[in-house]
Amino acid sequence: MKILVIHGPNLNMLGKRDPTLYGSQPLAEINALLERRAQELGVDVVPFQSNSEGALIDFIQSQAAQAAGIVINPGALTHYGLCLRDALADSALPVIEVHLSNIYAREEWRHKSVIAPVARGQISGLGWRGYIAALEILVAESK
Ligand code: DQA
Repeated sequence: MKILVIHGPNLNMLGKRDPTLYGSQPLAEINALLERRAQELGVDVVPFQSNSEGALIDFIQSQAAQAAGIVINPGALTHYGLCLRDALADSALPVIEVHLSNIYAREEWRHKSVIAPVARGQISGLGWRGYIAALEILVAESK
């Protein structure tokens, strides 16, 4: 079973971005933690990061048929990425939206997610552990 793990714009800068909001782990470390947990669960994760909405959509379209679910942190595309939202909906896969920071405790424009209505659920503000929880939930629900 394959779970896609998608990281949107600016998340390649984790470790350098404000650690009080996003934690100090670089993206490679978060992916390694996810890979370790996936191995324990007996599933594969396919991580992908891009700063471009089109590249994220191309990845979803090319991988969806072989996948059982999607964990995604859409970065700022969360708040306006309608093309990304459509691609996630078209994939017909269960999607869990993850945010490192608590988007509801920040600026008002971050309170709205255009992704949430097409997601199975959302985890916000729990740091890198949110990704692990999302993976565990997708695996548990697809068995
Ligand atoms: C984020 C929250 C977004 O508002 C922001 O634009 C990001 C990261 C998070 O993980 O907390 O890039 O998705």
